[in-house]
Amino acid sequence: MDRYCVFGNPIAHSKSPEIHAAYAAQTGQDMHYERRLAPLDGFAEAVRAFIAEGGKGANVTVPFKLEAVKLAQALTIRARAAGAVNTLVFSDEGIIGDNTDGAGLVADIVNNAGVPIAGKRVLLLGAGGAARGVVLPILEHRPARLVIANRTVATAEGLVEQFAALGGEGVVSACGFADIDGAYDIVINATAASLSAEVPPVAPSVFAPGALALDMMYGASPTVFLQFAARHGAQLRDGLGMLVEQAAEAFHLWRGVQPATADVLQKLRAQL
Ligand code: ATR
Repeated sequence: MDRYCVFGNPIAHSKSPEIHAAYAAQTGQDMHYERRLAPLDGFAEAVRAFIAEGGKGANVTVPFKLEAVKLAQALTIRARAAGAVNTLVFSDEGIIGDNTDGAGLVADIVNNAGVPIAGKRVLLLGAGGAARGVVLPILEHRPARLVIANRTVATAEGLVEQFAALGGEGVVSACGFADIDGAYDIVINATAASLSAEVPPVAPSVFAPGALALDMMYGASPTVFLQFAARHGAQLRDGLGMLVEQAAEAFHLWRGVQPATADVLQKLRAQL
C-alpha cells in the first residue's frame, strides 16, 4: 500500500489524514496517510526516514514549509513563486517540491463559492508567506487588478516586483492599508491579524456591492475580519475550503485522480 504523511510540529491537530482518507475511500485508491511529528531541528532526517520506509509523498505544514524548499531537488514554478513548499513527491528522480495552497484558494473561490476571478478587482491583505503563495494562482485567472496591501508597504512592493514578470505587469500594485483606493469584488485576508483577533485597518468601502470576503483562517465562529466584512454586506468564506482544496490538489498530484470535495468540506464544517 502506498504511504503518505504530513510533517509538522505540532501536528496532532492536523485534519489532513482525515481529508486524504476520505478522498482515498471515495476514489478507490489503495493508500495510507498519517501524521508525522518532525523534531524542530530534524525535518530533513524525518523526510529521509519516511522515504527509506517507502513513502511516496508528503504534505508539509508549519514550521517546515521554507525548509522544504531547500530539501527539494526540483521545484514547480508555483512553489518557486510562493517561496514555500506544502507538498512533496518522492520520485525516482528525487524529491520534488510543489505548493498547492494558492491553487486551493483559487479553486475554493471559483468552484465552491462560484465567483470567477477573471476580470475582477482583487484586494489581497498581507504580504507574508501566505499572501505570496496565492499571487501566481490568482494572476493565472486574469483579474482586472490585484492590489496587495500590507502594514509594511515595502514587503508588498517586493511582491509586485517579483510578480511583474510572471503576469503581474500592469495588474499588480502595492499600498498601505490607509491608501487602498476604490472597491473590490474579492477581498482576501492573508494577514496573521485574525490570530490575535485583530482586523487589518481597511475602510469598509473596500467591499464592492456583493463582494466576496475570504479569510484564510477558520474556526467555529467567523473571524473578526469576516464579522467586519459581514457588517458591510460582503458574502463570507473562511479558510476551511482552501484547506480541503489544497489537499485535493496534492491528492491529484500523487494519485492522478481529482477527488470531489463538497462532502469532505461539509463534514469538517460540522466538526468545528
Ligand atoms: P504567514 O506565513 O502566515 O503569511 P508571515 O510571513 O509572518 O506569516 O506574514 C504575516 C503577515 O501578516 C504579514 O503581512 C504581516 O504584516 P507585516 O509584513 O507588516 O509584518 C501581517 N500581520 C501580522 N499581524 C498583523 C496585524 N495585527 N495587522 C495587520 N497585519 C498583520
